[in-house]
Amino acid sequence: MSIELTWKDSGFEPEEVRARRAAAQAELARLWSGELHFTGWVKDPVEFDDEKIEELEKTAKEIREKCDVFLVLGVGGSFMGAKAVIDLLAPEEADTEVLFAGYNFSARYVKELLRKIEGKDLCLCVISKSGSTTETLSAYGIFKEWMLRKYGAEETARRTYVVTEHRSNFLFDEATAEGAAIFDLALDIGGRYSVLTPVGLLPIAVAGIDIQAIMEGARAWTSQEAFSEDGLDYAILRQMYYEQGKRIEVYEFFDPYAAYFGEWLKQLFGESEGKDGKGLFPASLMFSRDLHSMGQFLQQGTPSFFETFVTAAETRDDIGIPEIAMKPFAGKTIQQINACAEKGVYDAHVKAGIPALSIRIGQFDARTVGELLYYFETQCAVSALLSGVDPFNQPGVEAYKKEMRGYIDEL
Ligand code: PA5
Repeated sequence: MSIELTWKDSGFEPEEVRARRAAAQAELARLWSGELHFTGWVKDPVEFDDEKIEELEKTAKEIREKCDVFLVLGVGGSFMGAKAVIDLLAPEEADTEVLFAGYNFSARYVKELLRKIEGKDLCLCVISKSGSTTETLSAYGIFKEWMLRKYGAEETARRTYVVTEHRSNFLFDEATAEGAAIFDLALDIGGRYSVLTPVGLLPIAVAGIDIQAIMEGARAWTSQEAFSEDGLDYAILRQMYYEQGKRIEVYEFFDPYAAYFGEWLKQLFGESEGKDGKGLFPASLMFSRDLHSMGQFLQQGTPSFFETFVTAAETRDDIGIPEIAMKPFAGKTIQQINACAEKGVYDAHVKAGIPALSIRIGQFDARTVGELLYYFETQCAVSALLSGVDPFNQPGVEAYKKEMRGYIDEL
């Protein structure tokens, strides 16, 4: 396993953390016991066997053969994980472009997409656990109509791939009636814990990323033993910061392609933990860009936060800075400079007394990203359980949906 958590600059003593390990292990045991609702994701990487992965890969190959664009419609947990992984790992040359919509109400965004797909062959992927989410379903109507005009009803159904629960809802019923392909999202897996199911894996496979390797990475963590002893220290430290009065966790990345991984983390932790008047507000920053905007606040602003560096020792690309460049940058590589930025920021912040955690991997590749996805899901669930909240509901999200629906009905 390649995830390394370092907390030597956390501000906490080893014995304080050690004293809490038994409580964290007890929450992990509850996750594995099956007694909590929506914990299907816990064992899913081992239960979602190679046969199911091969089926997804076969479908992805067919899609790549017939489509220039695979348009994924979904919001929240129904798209963020796939987008995070594709942004990080998509191969340079891809036969099929994977695009996302149905996660906003921007007419300009939809119109630009309609212009972009003109003259191209399209496949549509509609992902919604409930099968009735406003963003997703309104976008579905628009792009389905486009497909019907171009391909007719039968071919549109052949080009439509739905991921939803296997029970009656608008999306499931319509896809069943029309003969579109349906992939099941298990009833006991919630949206933000679904990236390692067809919700995330189908778009990721279409993008040409090795989903077998992703699942191998996830499976390496899919046991209670994998998180034994110091394995839950990240969840423990988060709660210690909260008790100490910290209210914000800032995830810090040094790779712009990890920006959506930050969005995925924000959704996972924010929606799981932010309830009953509790929770750390998850924020994410992209360095070095944000060193020139938020760097000042981090260094000297209100000390209400701690930092979690999420970094890789190696990167997939590098490029030299030519000799004509300004000294001392000439002759170095961009990644060498990036590594100096990473060390420099860490040292400067620690010297300023900002508590810091570091989560480091060797490189962002399919296996390590699979590890990270499952690792963070478990840490998040345990962290929320330690704080006494239910990680798997989202009553606040439902409240806004209800209010909005009232206004839509009045239109
Ligand atoms: O994590 C969650 O449960 C949410 O973010 C959902 O994924 C989001 O609201 C979309 O819901 P649905 O998949 O039902 O369209």
